Order: sequence, then C-alpha cells, then structure tokens
Amino acid sequence: MNKNKIAVIGAGLMGNGIAQACAKAGYDVVNVDTFEDAIEKAKATVEKLFSRKVEKGSLTEEEKRKILSHNSYSKNLEDAKDAFLVIEAVPEKIEIKKDIFKKLDDIADSETVIVSNTSGLSISEIASVTNRPDKIMGAHFFYPAPVMKLLELVRGLVTSDETYHIVKEYAKTIGKTTVDAPEFPGFMVNRILVPMQNEAAYMVMEGSKPEDVDNAMKLGCNHPMGPIELTDFVGIDTMLATMTGLYNGFHDSKYRPCPLLETMVKAGMLGKKSGQGFYKYDAKGNKIGSNF
Ligand code: CAA
Repeated sequence: MNKNKIAVIGAGLMGNGIAQACAKAGYDVVNVDTFEDAIEKAKATVEKLFSRKVEKGSLTEEEKRKILSHNSYSKNLEDAKDAFLVIEAVPEKIEIKKDIFKKLDDIADSETVIVSNTSGLSISEIASVTNRPDKIMGAHFFYPAPVMKLLELVRGLVTSDETYHIVKEYAKTIGKTTVDAPEFPGFMVNRILVPMQNEAAYMVMEGSKPEDVDNAMKLGCNHPMGPIELTDFVGIDTMLATMTGLYNGFHDSKYRPCPLLETMVKAGMLGKKSGQGFYKYDAKGNKIGSNF
C-alpha cells in the first residue's frame, strides 16, 4: 500500500476538484473515470482554471507544473489498487455507489479506507455491500472542492475510530477543517442550505426575478453568491437530488422539492454546466441573461 497515493473515483465537477485539492497537497492522485469524455472534460477544466490562475498571478507556472505532475487520470478502477485512501465521487445514485464500492472492496488493499463524497446517501447502506464496513465513512467536500475549507465527516453505524482518525488527519493535510455531521439526509450543511435554495426556486416559480432573489441574499445577508446563482453553479440536477433525498429520507412535506426544479431537469436545464439554468451562460461560463 502506497501511503502517498490517493485514488479519486469519478472525474466530474466534484471528483476533479477533490483530485486537485489532493495533488496540491503533494499526494499522488489517480482520478479514475470509466468515461473517456469525463476525463477529457476534467483535463480541459483544470487547464482552463490553472491558466486563469497563472494569468491572475495566484499560481506560478512552476507551481502549476508541480501540481499537475501529481495528478494522473485512468479509465481503469484497478488503478486504485495500492492507494491508502480511496475517495468515491460518482453520481448521487445509491445503486451506482454500491456497485463501485463492491468493486473497490475487491480491488483495494484490505487496510485501505474508502470514503464516499455523497452529499446525503446512507453511509451504512453503502458500507453494507463491502467486507470492510468499519473502514468506510463519508467525507463530504463542497463545491469548488479546492477552495471550500470544510470537510463534513460522517460516520456509518460501524465506522471504526481508527478510520475516523485516518480521515480526520488526511483532512488536515489538505488544509480542510472538519465537522462531525450526523448520518441523516443532507448531513449538516445541505440540510440547512438546500431548503433555502429550494425556497428561492419557489419564489422564482411564483414570479420573482432570479436577480432580485440573489441580490436579496447577497446584500441582505452577505452571502458570496445568491441561492439561485448557487443552484446554477452546483447543478440543478445535483440540488434536486439532494432535496429529494431530504424529502424521502425524513418523510416530511416541509422538504418537498420545487416543481420548477423538476421541470428544468427534465428540460435539460442543469445550470452553468449545460449553459442553461435560471440564467443563460456563454461557452466560457459567463452569465449572459436570465431565463425567468
Ligand atoms: N474550481 C476550482 N477553483 C475555483 C473554482 C472552481 N470551479 N471557481 C473558483 N475557483 C477559485 C479561483 O481559481 C480563485 O482562486 P485563486 O484565488 O487562487 O485565484 C478563487 O476560487 C476565487 O475565485 P474568483 O476570484 O474567480 O471568484 P470569487 O472570489 O467570486 O469566488 C467562489 C468564487 C469561491 C466560488 C465564491 O463565489 C463562493 O464561495 N461561492 C459560494 C460557494 C458555495 O456556497 N459552495 C457550496 C456549494 S453547496 C455544496 O457544495 C454541497 C454539495 O453537496 C454539492
């Protein structure tokens, strides 16, 4: 087992960002995704982001080269083999996560800790498909993962103290602050944040302008982004999945997802990543108008 190697499974928005955060801290990271397209998109995103940082002066060419040298990509899950830590960041579907965990359980060293970046699915349920449920826990990053300082730690029913301490120590090495979040839907942040975004979507559905809702929260509460802007930023599908998880998990109508979100997802309006959300975006991701 290589004590400096981390495997990040999934090269989407979250997986790609988590891989960057680990590579920046000096870990050798392999970012695994079975879809070639996802890998190509991840590479292009990193290139664009890092070039902007170099232009801006917040990263030197030398630092860029060093971080990139720690970050590799693979289409083969077997490449997670000798990692001391595996971080799963595949789509928020319990069946997909269980399938990946079953495979990782066979591939990874028996001592390897495997964490899920799920934003609300049951860690105990995910762990139940493996032969190492004590070495499984939740480590929930926030978007954008290289920037946001928080890591929510979520223990399953049988996560061992040793696993918890390994992940807590790892968090420190990548400069994250941890909180212990309960194993209930939405954990800690999303249980508070996502209902606010959902309520904001209801206001747009009822006729308020997205800009007004966003300005209200930015100027009235000092939020760095308004709730509508944030929903487009994180992805409307991701936000809807979290809200649906709260609704189904607590069986409480106070968490009912806004129907407008469901319609938007059906229409393929997924936010910034698809170019259309509450706002419209150009190919560079700049806001160019509003859809409401
Ligand atoms: N990936 C990596 N880095 C990014 C990034 C991205 N997608 N977007 C911005 N950054 C970096 C920039 O490169 C820049 O870094 P440097 O300072 O080193 O140059 C830094 O972030 C600041 O970026 P900008 O100057 O372009 O913009 P900003 O100052 O307006 O900050 C922001 C951007 C950090 C995203 C800020 O608007 C913010 O904090 N927004 C709120 C984000 C938030 O609430 N996240 C939680 C989402 S909920 C969630 O994640 C839960 C879940 O389960 C999905």
